Amino acid sequence: MKGIVLAGGLGTRLFPLTKVTNKHLLPVYNRPMIYYPIQTLVDAGISEILVVTGGNNAGDFLRLLGNGKQFGLKHLDYTYQEGEDGIAAALALAEYFVDNDLVCVILGDNLYEKSVRESAEDFIKRGHGAKIHLKKVENPQRFGVPIISGERIMKIEEKPKAPKSDYAVTGLYMYDHTVFDIVGTLKPSGRGELEITDVNNAYIDRNDITYGIVDGWWSDAGTFDSLLRTNILVASQFESNSQEISQDAIRASASMLRQQ
Ligand code: TTP
Repeated sequence: MKGIVLAGGLGTRLFPLTKVTNKHLLPVYNRPMIYYPIQTLVDAGISEILVVTGGNNAGDFLRLLGNGKQFGLKHLDYTYQEGEDGIAAALALAEYFVDNDLVCVILGDNLYEKSVRESAEDFIKRGHGAKIHLKKVENPQRFGVPIISGERIMKIEEKPKAPKSDYAVTGLYMYDHTVFDIVGTLKPSGRGELEITDVNNAYIDRNDITYGIVDGWWSDAGTFDSLLRTNILVASQFESNSQEISQDAIRASASMLRQQ
């Protein structure tokens, strides 16, 4: 299975932090944000990875990540998204790279505490369709929310006012190569983007989608509050000798956040 990290977009909700740099280059505790999704793919056993980025700072990704040696990779691939026309549009750029293989897509601002290797191995065994990863959240209105009936997902609603479950569809998706046929049929949404929720709903219509529940914490880092939350969760995983930060305070904040 191939891996794709989506790191384009404008990051407007983090303005002015993103005025002169790309969101995925901002720090999360002691590393640039993009390190974490790349590590998630590597830990899942994926060794062929494509980074999709855009905007004015694309060259900085190459300077930062090089050939991926720091992740134990032999090489890293890059492509450039002209414009910010959506997550599914960014995925479309990966067609040549994925070819007939399966693909695991991760959003560059989504961090996972635990390995997703087991889920990746299960999807490889299944070998077709799509798999999404759900997490129970306090504020599902912010996310894509699944309507679930037993083992089946009936529909995903994008940012619903009255969510029909407590789950968010997180930024980790596994697809077979027919995903590119689906992306080719999409029409831009009200906000002018090709939406990943429309891709997942197309697999639901085909009755060819499964889901897993994320183990450990999951956090996106696309708003000031979620970026702060993510920093605290990551910091709580590191042992630090620093006198500047109180590990007790970080642990206390993290355990409070984990319950949310
Ligand atoms: P979003 O957070 O939905 O969009 P954004 O990053 O542009 O931020 P904002 O809404 O604050 O302007 O995107 C989620 C992830 O998807 C993000 O990590 C980057 C990626 N993405 C792309 O790669 N290309 C795109 O065109 C868009 C919109 C997002």
